[in-house]
Amino acid sequence: MRLPPGFKLITLEKVDSTNNEAKRRAEMGAVSGTIVHASEQTHGRGRRGRQWYSPKGNLYFSLILRLPCSATEGLGISFVSATAMCDALAGIVSPMTEVTVKWPNDILINRRKVSGILLESATGLNGTLRWLIVGVGVNVSSFPGETEYPATSLRYEGVTGARPDDVLRAFMRHFKRWFDIWENDGFSSIRTAWLNRATGIGKTIKVRVSGKVFEGEFLDIGDDGSLLVERKTGETISIMTGDVFPSDEI
Ligand code: BTN
Repeated sequence: MRLPPGFKLITLEKVDSTNNEAKRRAEMGAVSGTIVHASEQTHGRGRRGRQWYSPKGNLYFSLILRLPCSATEGLGISFVSATAMCDALAGIVSPMTEVTVKWPNDILINRRKVSGILLESATGLNGTLRWLIVGVGVNVSSFPGETEYPATSLRYEGVTGARPDDVLRAFMRHFKRWFDIWENDGFSSIRTAWLNRATGIGKTIKVRVSGKVFEGEFLDIGDDGSLLVERKTGETISIMTGDVFPSDEI
């Protein structure tokens, strides 16, 4: 498969989780830009300890990055990746189809989740990242039922011919472009690009943080990628980790 320069692809048939395999390889010294791809995962993992539905036919991969920055700065890569996947999928679906991002890094087609991203990292004693792993799943041909947030697949949204490989190639092309912008200009350009693709700005949303649900207006994201929500009391809260839902759900 042709990928942008600087990336190296490892393809596996079946693995527990490409993030687990990428971590093992990162600890063994795999170079930055290594991509671990598998056709199937037996223990695919989502954010916040959830399972990730991982049968054959969908896309599962993890990109190993070694960046000379702190874990907090590295969080920018979460928004780089979501923006890149949003652009990659927008180029695959039919032109009038709505492809958006949902904080922090879900990709929605017609308001249903088609792709999720799980970032994991290890930091050295000096606070610099030793490695950062960007784990990406895309529902290409099938999607799970009974999810908390409605799910979809590219096939369900009318894309008949796309294969997992095509999506990976398109993602890597856009990732390289947005990564270069992040490296050269910092987070601010990425923040603007992400906001331009975001769903729910100015709308009332519910955010679940450690089991508690807050309702308020989705104002913005902060310089650190946090979600800024204005509560009915007028107070603005800044959230670093949580799950976002439209106000009429949960
Ligand atoms: C989420 O939305 O909860 C994040 C989902 C991330 C899933 C991908 S699939 C490839 C990689 N390997 C994993 O075990 N998880 C990520």
